[in-house]
Amino acid sequence: MAEVSLRKKLALIGAMGSGKSSLARRYVQKYGGSSLDTDAEFVRRHGAIADFFDLRGEAEFRKIESDILVEAANSDIDVIATGGGAVLSKVGMSALRKTREIVYLTAPFDVLEMRIKKSARPLKNDLARVMEAREPLYLKYADYTVDSSEDSLRSLEQALKTPRTNRYDTVLCDADDTVLDFAATMKNSIIAAARREKLSAPSDRVYAAYKSLLPSVWERLERNEITREQLETERFALLSEALGEKIDVSRMNETYTDEMRRRRDVRDGAIEFLKALRARGIKVYIVSNGIARIKSEQLKAIEDHIDGAFVSETVGFNKPDVRFFERVESEIGGLDKDRTIVFGDSETSDISGGIVFGVDTCLFDTTGSKRSAADYRVTSYAEFLDLV
Ligand code: S3P
Repeated sequence: MAEVSLRKKLALIGAMGSGKSSLARRYVQKYGGSSLDTDAEFVRRHGAIADFFDLRGEAEFRKIESDILVEAANSDIDVIATGGGAVLSKVGMSALRKTREIVYLTAPFDVLEMRIKKSARPLKNDLARVMEAREPLYLKYADYTVDSSEDSLRSLEQALKTPRTNRYDTVLCDADDTVLDFAATMKNSIIAAARREKLSAPSDRVYAAYKSLLPSVWERLERNEITREQLETERFALLSEALGEKIDVSRMNETYTDEMRRRRDVRDGAIEFLKALRARGIKVYIVSNGIARIKSEQLKAIEDHIDGAFVSETVGFNKPDVRFFERVESEIGGLDKDRTIVFGDSETSDISGGIVFGVDTCLFDTTGSKRSAADYRVTSYAEFLDLV
C-alpha cells in the first residue's frame, strides 16, 4: 500500500486542555503550512471569551463559533484547532468533515483538569458535565483518536500513517438518478411507448411534455396526495392534456411500464462507486420510491453490488414518510443511526426523509446548483467516497 502522506488538512477536536492549539502549532512547524485556532480567531473579533460569556451568553458564543468553524473549514488553512465545544455545531462539523480529517485529542480527566485550572475558560469548573455530554460527539466525529498525555505530535504521526476509519457503516442510497440513470430510462421508454401507442405528436414533443409534468406528479405522491395507482394513470392524463391528444391512459401506462421494465440504464461510474463502498465494508441498501414491478427488474443491473433494496410500494409508505425509513430500519436490524447516511438526488424525498428519520444526509447534486437542507452536498461519487 502507498505511504500515507503526513501533510493532510486536519481539524483537531477535543476537550479544553487536550492540547489542540499547541499540537496544531507544532504540526505546522514541522511539516509547514498554516494553522488557525478558532478560539484565537473569536478573541480577535470579539474580545475575551470569558467576558463575552458574561455579557452575551453562551448561546451567542456558539453561533459565532459555528460561523468561524465553517469559514475556517472552507479556507486553505492546513490545521485547525477548534474550541472544546466545536462538536456542538452540526454545520461546523459537516463543513470540517468535507474538507479535512478530524483528529480527536484525548487525555485523562485529571490531566485535563490540571491543565485548565489556572486558565480563564468560562466552563472550566464544568469539565465533568461537559465531557459527559460531549464524549459521544467527539467519538462520532473522530477520524483518528490521539492521546495527548505523552508526545501528541508523535502519536498523531503514527495515527496518520493508517487510513482513517469509515465515518458511516450504512448508506441508504436512492436509485433513480443517483445510481440508476432514470433520465435515460424515462426518455427511451416514453419515446418507445408513444411509438407503440401510435401517438400523433412527434417524439421530442411527447418527451418534453412528459419530462416537464412528471416531477410534480411524483411530488404529489411524496406528499401522500395521490396513491401509486393514481400516479400511474394521472401522468398520462396530464400528458394527453399537454399534447391536446386523446390517450388511452391505462393502455399507455401498461406499454410504458413494459418499456421501463426492460431497461437497465446505470449511471456512469455507479457500479464502481457501489463496489468501492462495499470494499470498505460499508453496507449499501437501495431506498426507492419506484414502482415495484419496474424496480424489481431494473435493480437487477446492480443487484450484485448492494446489500438489499427497499421499494416503497412494497414497504407500504413512500419517502419522505418516516414510516418508510422505520420499516427499512426494522428490516435491516441493528442499524446505527449515528453511522447511517442517506444519499440521493431528491431534496423532497431523500433529504427530507433522512432528516425526519434522524440520520445524516447527502444530496447528490450533479449540477451543483440546488438549495438543500442536507448535511452535505456532493457533485460526484468521488466526493461522496471522500466523505464517508
Ligand atoms: C469551550 C472551550 C474553549 C472555548 C470556550 C468554550 C468549551 O476552547 O471555546 O471557552 O465549551 O469546551 P478550548 O477547548 O480551546 O479550551
